[in-house]
Amino acid sequence: MRNKILEELKANSGQAVSGEEISRRLGISRTAVWKHISKLRSEGYRIESNTNSGYKLLGNPDILSSIELEPFLRTEFVGRNIVYFDSIDSTTTYAKKRAEDNFQEGTVVIADEQTGGRGRLGRHWVSTKGKGIWMTIMLKPDILPYDGPKLAIAAALAAANAIRNCCQLNAEIKWPNDIVAGGKKLCGILIEMSAEADVIKYIVIGIGINANMDNDDFGQEISSTATSVSIETGKPVSRKALAASVMFEFEQLYKVFIRNGSIKDFLEDYKSKSTVLGKEVRLISKKEEITGIAMDISEEGHLVVRLADGSLREIMSGEVSVRGMYGYI
Ligand code: BTN
Repeated sequence: MRNKILEELKANSGQAVSGEEISRRLGISRTAVWKHISKLRSEGYRIESNTNSGYKLLGNPDILSSIELEPFLRTEFVGRNIVYFDSIDSTTTYAKKRAEDNFQEGTVVIADEQTGGRGRLGRHWVSTKGKGIWMTIMLKPDILPYDGPKLAIAAALAAANAIRNCCQLNAEIKWPNDIVAGGKKLCGILIEMSAEADVIKYIVIGIGINANMDNDDFGQEISSTATSVSIETGKPVSRKALAASVMFEFEQLYKVFIRNGSIKDFLEDYKSKSTVLGKEVRLISKKEEITGIAMDISEEGHLVVRLADGSLREIMSGEVSVRGMYGYI
């Protein structure tokens, strides 16, 4: 109903519409109209009210609600159902709860702020209000659970392509799925999956893009390793256009992946945007520490590293440090 009221206000572009007219058209009471208007205001819409003329919408706010994103969407199913919050603890935590029931393939949970944003390896993800794209794509692919993690490659390439196309910024991919520019992290991706024997119950792909974050937003601890699109390009980016572009790029790759059951059709593209290949990398896991030269990325999405003794080692997951990045010298 809130969206319908908004549509009424938008349809009258800048002209006031009386509460009575809205209530008559939508078949709700004037008190209900007023309550919805209050909620819209709390979401960031500037709505002027005048006892004689009614309600007038003053411009479009920079928020990522479905009605605001809709004009930018070019997808078939990703983002065609949007669950929007102005503030939530974590879009991924919410998506996982929601995924326990039936959900529409490609549902996107998106928020203007996360108060408990989650990063990989249990880290916190800074998600300042109105300054980034904090979203989780919900999927139920008909593939084997073993193949699920390969979607990390598709998600990273989609985010890098969207940032390149939308922001004219040379975004690169640090295996497996950090997006970097100028040696600092722009975007992080967190993939979580629930599966039974050989069936995937759901996969949720959480994507966090530092769109218009300022250095001060990151806090001291991560400001030396984190950056944003606006810091790198020197100008603000339209979060709506960028979010819609990520959804579009991801849907294209996801379709290819599901059709072929493989990442091989876009692996070369991913590799060409890799900031890791040919560089010295170090992986510290619970079991061991490996240092070597990153040689390749396999069709499994694994990183192939040449060790000092000349042997090759495939790294399946984890976080690598790349010499020259994030303070690894
Ligand atoms: C990383 O550590 O690199 C992954 C960061 C993932 C952040 C995104 S923001 C949207 C979604 N919700 C979360 O709580 N985390 C992911």
